[in-house]
Amino acid sequence: MTDLKMSNPQPRNLKTPDAEKFAAGFPGDFLWGVATASYQIEGSTKADGRKPSIWDAFSKMPGRVYQGHNGDVACDHYNRWEEDLDLIKEMGVEAYRFSIAWPRIIPDGTGRINEKGLDFYDRLIDGCKARGIKTYATLYHWDLPLSLMGEGGWAARSTAYAFQRYAKVVMARLGDRLDAVATFNEPWCIVWLSHLYGIHAPGEKNMQAALAAMHHVNLAHGLGVEAIRHVTPDVPVGTVINAASIIAGSDSPADLAAAERAHQFHNGAFFDPIFKGEYPQQFLEALGDRMPVVEDGDLKVINQKLDWWGLNYYKPDRVHDEPARSGDFPWTIEAKPASDVKTDIGWEVYAPGLKQLVEDLYRRYDLPDCYITENGACYNMEPVDGEVDDQPRLDYYVQHLSVVADLIKDGYPMKGYFAWSLMDNFEWAEGYRMRFGLVHVNYETQERTIKKSGKWYRELASLFPKGN
Ligand code: NOJ
Repeated sequence: MTDLKMSNPQPRNLKTPDAEKFAAGFPGDFLWGVATASYQIEGSTKADGRKPSIWDAFSKMPGRVYQGHNGDVACDHYNRWEEDLDLIKEMGVEAYRFSIAWPRIIPDGTGRINEKGLDFYDRLIDGCKARGIKTYATLYHWDLPLSLMGEGGWAARSTAYAFQRYAKVVMARLGDRLDAVATFNEPWCIVWLSHLYGIHAPGEKNMQAALAAMHHVNLAHGLGVEAIRHVTPDVPVGTVINAASIIAGSDSPADLAAAERAHQFHNGAFFDPIFKGEYPQQFLEALGDRMPVVEDGDLKVINQKLDWWGLNYYKPDRVHDEPARSGDFPWTIEAKPASDVKTDIGWEVYAPGLKQLVEDLYRRYDLPDCYITENGACYNMEPVDGEVDDQPRLDYYVQHLSVVADLIKDGYPMKGYFAWSLMDNFEWAEGYRMRFGLVHVNYETQERTIKKSGKWYRELASLFPKGN
């Protein structure tokens, strides 16, 4: 790949802690894992009956994805899955979080089931089990079957029912070997980033569509939970949310009020219906008749007790009041970051944001056990003489894992941690230029090289007993 963004200079004031000493901050049964997602790694988008997803279409529209990159080949994981599972085993981690591609299983979203698509995940899951790796599956990580756009995609209520059937089909065939399942990955991205900001597929900038998508994704989550519990009552079910760590730009009452509105919009739109059975009050008042139809019984379906939930955290979101818009709702109001330390994708590095966020969410909601289902950093170092020296990524892991250890010490039910990502992959609208892997991927040769951060993570994770 050409035109890779160079790494920002980073302060090197951190000493890499000795893995053994660091491990002492975590209980013996803490789960260490790595995460990926189907469209980002699999490639083989036409193999064995798979049909296009919204990302296949979106990535081929001019100007949507950096340099027209797409997932046609990605990390070629569809063909190299055995090698990749060997890598996971070699990393010493106990669990693998992957997602299942709906367009492989039910290629048109509804209708015909594609056995060959299920066969792939059957092999993958058996491959994990054979290597003693626990399986954490996500049912939806953004690759909606393109055919469903004919109905309106997530803006259509029917998509929620199509998802329920898909969940049923997956669990009936694969559920007996899943250690846990999540309905969705990051509703914020599925809803606001994709339907309001237009940055992810399907690339809409339409508040009405976004609000409809919000309710239908929430509903689909609830319908999915029902289906999973019906088919496989013993599989722990949860959902994965990229809650925003909202930090007020100052202590002024106006900024604090803006932060609360931002919480309701970015987090409450999902947490409140799922964990309280209602939409946030101020949010409802501000949106008035723009709110989509919430049918009788919907909130009850959405608000089901979960066995666990997953938090994806990367950066804080600093907000301040903008008087010109305070009558409206704060979709995005960005305040200046506290420091200039940023990863190569431009995200502020601020580990205390993770601590504040977990404390805030457990204060607001009655939440079950928590797994950090994604955390990691984008740095674009390339191998030199077969080594990738990504010290800033390693520092990022050390800082954020120290926070997780603090949360455990403070009594929060943090049960595991999945690094994002096992390997460099298709970073959505940023294409392949942004790298988050513990393992470097050469996209020309598909060679995998464990980075310095990956070696440290391996040292740490290997200290923990495997329970499979
Ligand atoms: C969250 C998403 O779940 C994942 O797909 C993405 O690559 C990472 N964040 C990094 O942006």
